[in-house]
Amino acid sequence: MTGSVEAHYGNEGIVARIVQALIDAGFDTANLDADVLAGADEFHIGGREGTLNVASVLNLAPGQQLLDVGCGIGGTARFLARSTGAAVTGVDLTPEFVEAAVELTNLVGMGGLVDFKVGSATDLPFMDDSFDAVTMLHVGMNIEDKNQMMSELARVCRTQGTIVVYDVTLTKTGELPYPMPWSSTPQFSFPEPASNYESAAKNVGLKHVGSSDHYDLALKFFNEPPASPPPVSLGHLMGPRMLEMRDNAGIAVNQGLISPVLMTFQVA
Ligand SMILES: C[S@@+](CC[C@H](N)C(=O)[O-])C[C@H]1O[C@@H](n2cnc3c(N)ncnc32)[C@H](O)[C@@H]1O
Repeated sequence: MTGSVEAHYGNEGIVARIVQALIDAGFDTANLDADVLAGADEFHIGGREGTLNVASVLNLAPGQQLLDVGCGIGGTARFLARSTGAAVTGVDLTPEFVEAAVELTNLVGMGGLVDFKVGSATDLPFMDDSFDAVTMLHVGMNIEDKNQMMSELARVCRTQGTIVVYDVTLTKTGELPYPMPWSSTPQFSFPEPASNYESAAKNVGLKHVGSSDHYDLALKFFNEPPASPPPVSLGHLMGPRMLEMRDNAGIAVNQGLISPVLMTFQVA
């Protein structure tokens, strides 16, 4: 489980576990609302609330083309497609996640509205200027070369297009406990202060529009679990090891070591 970034995330039976949990909770899996997957398919701090923060900055219009980099099993991509009418493409390094993204999209009747591809944020499989906007949620912590990452996000986005990054950033010096949700070991873990992302963006010619720190949302997310848990959770996505990862992320948040920051850039 620790030999690469993909090995940390990839695992067998994701869709089967999610479907079984929905059946156990009494859902008719032939008639599912995509929202029912939110507990498992929004793998970032704040879950849906984090996605809504991203959506409000992206401000997409129907028909626009959005790329979601490191889309996981596609929750953000599906939400943004159905709530805005934009055409959304998701790309992710982990083949098992992309397979699950396609299957879950078909399961909730959204096939044709969102498409997915395997690929890396540092070598995106798209032509220059392919998208009106680009987003990336909780992915940069796996990427050492922030300049190359920013350069690729900028390359595939059209002039005047918006790039929104929502990542876990380092906010204080200290030892992070592992496993973390994004890496089992320090070897594939590269969280950095938001200022490093902003410098990398500047290096590739992006205009920095603004950044907002969502530490309060992180405190709420880790310390105030919902009174009634959703039918599916990140445990169905990642398996039993998710418990320890989540606990460790909560410890790091409570110690003030990490915080989720939303950064907005524009292609000049
Ligand atoms: C914590 S999950 C976030 C998934 C999704 N963005 C979300 O918010 O639900 C991190 C994701 O980044 C992907 N990832 C990590 N490094 C990547 C890279 N270099 N290129 C593309 N995807 C990557 C992983 O496969 C995983 O799906």
